[in-house]
Amino acid sequence: MARVLSGIQPSGQLTLGNYIGAIQNFVKLQDEHECFYMVVDLHAVTVPQDPAALREQTESVAALYLAAGVDPKKSAIFIQSHVPAHAELGWIMTTLAYMGELERMTQYKEKTAGKTSIPAGLFVYPTLMAADILIYNADLVPVGDDQKQHLELTRDLAERFNKRYGETFRLPEPYMPKVGARIMSLDDPTKKMSKSNPNPNSYIALLDEPDVIRRKIARAVTDSGREVKYDPEAKAAVSNLISIYAHCAGVTVEEVERRYEGQGYGQFKKDLAEHVVAVLEPLQKRYREIRGSGELVRVLKEGAERASAVAERTVALVKERMGFLPPA
Ligand code: AMP
Ligand code: TRP
Repeated sequence: MARVLSGIQPSGQLTLGNYIGAIQNFVKLQDEHECFYMVVDLHAVTVPQDPAALREQTESVAALYLAAGVDPKKSAIFIQSHVPAHAELGWIMTTLAYMGELERMTQYKEKTAGKTSIPAGLFVYPTLMAADILIYNADLVPVGDDQKQHLELTRDLAERFNKRYGETFRLPEPYMPKVGARIMSLDDPTKKMSKSNPNPNSYIALLDEPDVIRRKIARAVTDSGREVKYDPEAKAAVSNLISIYAHCAGVTVEEVERRYEGQGYGQFKKDLAEHVVAVLEPLQKRYREIRGSGELVRVLKEGAERASAVAERTVALVKERMGFLPPA
């Protein structure tokens, strides 16, 4: 059975972008693959985090996985730092990577633009991500478009290791939605929808109240003209709303266009808001139930055990291949 691995950082509110770009595919893939889904707290601390907020957010992201339909009977759900082998292989990946290739990472360049005190962890962030993926020999990695470059680096590191020490790692492929791999901001369709945007009207948080969702969608920018037509070049804002509609209603882009043929944006936006609410309202209800129960502790413990068994085997093999003296 093919393997799947992915992770999301516990740093701030998850958005509809995270849901459409990543979490929906976590759920979709779990029926026919062996899946590992984690909360990447070791990645989150590449920028300073308030300890209490980090604990709260880590639990919150794990609960959102469950609330969105990731099923702990099928998928291993765990916290990255609960499986220390990630950090160990992360170090080994750092020794394989070149400064030049890390300097080329666009996410690194964006996060550090204009800054002087740049944490070294931010620089080696992609080598830890490579370790996350390779430690499970994952075939598929469900992520949004912004992670494609990190996946390419992961493949390069895996190939480099295999060449030097013999075939060890499988080369992973990104798994992205056909439309919606990059959900854009509601106030500016040239920017990615992001939880770090200071304007809360630019994103829909998965835990936004239904009326907040309705208001944000009503305010979302549209393009000139009045046709509901998918054309990311000429109609970036409306095309973004169409991809959100398609994912939340479970229909194709063509079906959305057909439904609103000859109508303006008004009815389309009203219906869009209701489709988003129809997905997020039940998710929020499950989220509150999960946070109020002891279920999460059990799920995370079992998930970490399942993950550790695989991860520790990989690291032992890697160390043997590299010539580390095994402990007696
Ligand atoms: P992050 O919030 O950066 O940890 O991202 C978690 C996952 O959500 C990654 O797979 C991202 O590629 C994905 N993601 C984040 N923002 C978006 C977006 N606006 N559109 C599509 N996918 C996204
Ligand atoms: N870098 C990813 C992000 O910011 C998070 C991440 C860490 C990840 N390790 C991973 C995603 C492994 C997929 C697989 O979104």
